[in-house]
Amino acid sequence: MSGSAITPWVVGNWKMNPMRADAKQLVQELKQLLQDHVIDESQCHIGVAPISLALSNVQAQLSAGNRTVYTVAQDLSRIAGTGAYTGEISAELLKDSGIDFVLVGHSERREIFGDSPAIVNEKVKNAIDAGLTVIYCVGESLEQRENGQAEQTVLQQICDIASVVQADQWERVVVAYEPIWAIGTGKTASPADAQAMHAKIREGLSQITPMGQSMAILYGGSVKPENAVELAACPDINGALVGGASLNAESFYKIAHAFANTK
Ligand code: 13P
Repeated sequence: MSGSAITPWVVGNWKMNPMRADAKQLVQELKQLLQDHVIDESQCHIGVAPISLALSNVQAQLSAGNRTVYTVAQDLSRIAGTGAYTGEISAELLKDSGIDFVLVGHSERREIFGDSPAIVNEKVKNAIDAGLTVIYCVGESLEQRENGQAEQTVLQQICDIASVVQADQWERVVVAYEPIWAIGTGKTASPADAQAMHAKIREGLSQITPMGQSMAILYGGSVKPENAVELAACPDINGALVGGASLNAESFYKIAHAFANTK
């Protein structure tokens, strides 16, 4: 399977947004758009990642729609199972609530909340072992890019999880390449630069697992309707992890539409 034959994923990462009433309206509008202008499930996987408090509500609201839209957790505990861990939500508890997808290793978790590679590995392992699919985020800082270390940084992040993902578990890993300097800044990696990095990531994955050729590699960082078609046209960009633009139903829908129809 070549990169361009992979069903794309478009996932909205709502981060620490929005208020409850706005979340409800956002889901309602998205469902309506998907009902009025159908995007076939075989053309694009679609998911949204609300705050943990809203996971169940959003999931219930989405379940009444005319197509599957996955509900994705934004993070999980590095501790597995249940126990005296105040404030934490484990992989098993997510799974028990019917959540099958989780973001791990987002740069905001790594940079602001101190998620080291060791912690990220624990989270990946817990999620995969509990049967979740992981959207594993990687990406270099501006400084690393300017110092010519972008590729090395990202490939190291890919190699980091190789010790915790078993051979038969890679089918439950989706990679999201999000250059940190492109997140929330309005600056997008050029399609050529993004494609080059995605091809390197695929090469790196393929050295670890034969599934590397068929794994989805999403791009994230200021994706919007205006740049989605160009990004979707790149063979190794198999979808998008969308922040700001996912808080507007129409923008998010247009991005999903672009990937569904360009791929
Ligand atoms: P923006 O689309 O707002 O740049 O955020 C990207 C991101 O971090 C998604 O996880």
